[in-house]
This record gives sequence, structure tokens and C-alpha cells, in this order.
Amino acid sequence: MAHVFVSRALTGDALDRLTDAGHDVDVWPGNLPPHPTELRERVAHAHGLLAMLTERIDTALLDAAPQLKVIANYAVGFDNIDMEAITARGIAVGVTPDVLTDATADLAFALLLAAARRLAEAQRAVRDGRWRTFEPQGWLGADVHGATLVIVGGTGRIGQAVARRAAGFDMNIISLGRDGDLHQALQHADFVSLHAPLTPQTRHLIDDAALHAIKPGAILVNTGRGGLVDQPALARALQDGRLAAAALDVTDPEPLPADDPLLDAPNLLVVPHIGSATRTTRGRMVHMAVDNLLAGLAGDPLPHPAPVPRK
Ligand code: DGY
Repeated sequence: MAHVFVSRALTGDALDRLTDAGHDVDVWPGNLPPHPTELRERVAHAHGLLAMLTERIDTALLDAAPQLKVIANYAVGFDNIDMEAITARGIAVGVTPDVLTDATADLAFALLLAAARRLAEAQRAVRDGRWRTFEPQGWLGADVHGATLVIVGGTGRIGQAVARRAAGFDMNIISLGRDGDLHQALQHADFVSLHAPLTPQTRHLIDDAALHAIKPGAILVNTGRGGLVDQPALARALQDGRLAAAALDVTDPEPLPADDPLLDAPNLLVVPHIGSATRTTRGRMVHMAVDNLLAGLAGDPLPHPAPVPRK
């Protein structure tokens, strides 16, 4: 029998598969993540860990978990995990690819459309009683059809799924892989959607220079990771109107502190990291995480291992 710590209550009954296999499962009861000290205590005797991206898996955590054999990250991204420290200890790491591709691409497109047509502001005006009549010059947004969308991380699963949606909206698509010329592409962008993984190389990929290279009046959508964007630079680009709008599912940190200057920027839409948050997708993610745990605890190769990051 192995001991598994699960860092948050999860949807559905997939965790029963662990108990059915004879494992002992400890689920963190709170809605907020365990504090790092609490996490270290809870993994002290764990052989398996089902972690959210809110859990920082670093040397301190691994030192506190000497029996750990497998970590199932409840995400396709794994930038919360120090992979070098993991590899040195021979711990297996699993992720949840594919099942969240379409849900995340749907959200990216929802944000793109919402930002283009100013839905959040428009709804606020209606609710606040500020909308009096049809306004021939009011609420003018940007056309999506015929516009150019730059997809950063365009060769990945989610980037490609966004491209399929964009094609259905008659957009021109510039899909950038790892070695594409970002600044050159940004000059043509009416919209930019970010889907690159967060690595030391991609941190603050969208920085001041990128935001100066971007076509004036473009709209930025980020459903990848908050760290891809230099947020003070983004706040400045929104303040001085270089960007028409930004729509973010992810920020750094999450959530943004109430006094973060980015929250004062105009034309900013922020939602609380809900890319994969559909009932079906989240249910499938738990099953994939459990598949990874069961394999890792049995000493078998994981069905959905974290890819080895390229340098
Ligand atoms: C992921 O999977 O990496 C998402 O950000 C959370 O679902």
C-alpha cells in the first residue's frame, strides 16, 4: 500500500481508483492551496503526490518527501516543478496533455472575441444603468474576421487548436514556433495569442521591446502563463494606448494583488485561470492524473510523462 497526498479536492470519483487499488489517499481539505510548510508536512510519508500548479515542487519540498516516487501534476504545464531536482532524485512526473487542448483554445477565443468587441465594458455600462440608447458611435470594437492573429507557441497542441478556430473566423494566421521571428511577426498582429510554455527562455517574452514592435492598436490574449508577459510593460502599453486591449486568463502572481498597477490599466479583461475549467475537461484531468499515479506507484512508465524540457 502506498500513501498519496492530493493537494485539493477534485471533481468526480476518479480518486476512488487509488483506494480501490489499495492505496491510502489524503486529500487536502481547503479551497486554498496548502502553505509550503503544510505541504512539506503532508508529503513526509507520501509515495505519490497529486499537485496543482499552485504547488511549488522544489528542493525543499523534495527533501521533505524522501519516499516520493511519482508526482502527477494536475495540468499540462509543469513550470511549478524544478525538473532538475526531480531528475536527480529519479522521481517520475506526469501531466495531463490533450484533454484540455480544446477547452483552453475555446477560452482563448472567447477572450479574443470579448476583448475585440469590448464585452466586459459594455456589460458594465448596461448593469450600471449608463446605457441609454443605441449609440452610433459608441462601443466601437475591432473586427475579428479578416484580422491577423499571431499565435506564439503556434506549433503546440493548444496553439494549433486556436489556429483552427481562427481559420473558422476567416482570420489570417501567423503561427510562430520556437525559432520564429517574434518581433517581425508582431508588426503584422491585430491580435496576439500566447501558448508557449513558460521556461527560462520564454519568461517575459512579451517585454517592452516586443510591445513596441507590436502593431499599434493590437490586442493581446494570454491563456498560457502569466510569466510570459512583463506585466509592468503591459500596463504601460495599455496606459499609453499602444495596445487596444489585453485579455488574460493567467497572471504572475495569481491572483494579482488588489493594488497591482496592471489592474488600473484600461481595457484589461482578467479571468481567474479557467482555461481548462469545464466539467468534462477537469473530470478527465483527474483520471489522467490517477493513471499517472497508479503507473508510477507500480514502478511502471507513466502513460503521460512530462516532456523533457529542451534547453
Ligand atoms: C495547465 O494545464 O497547464 C493549465 O494552465 C491548468 O489547467
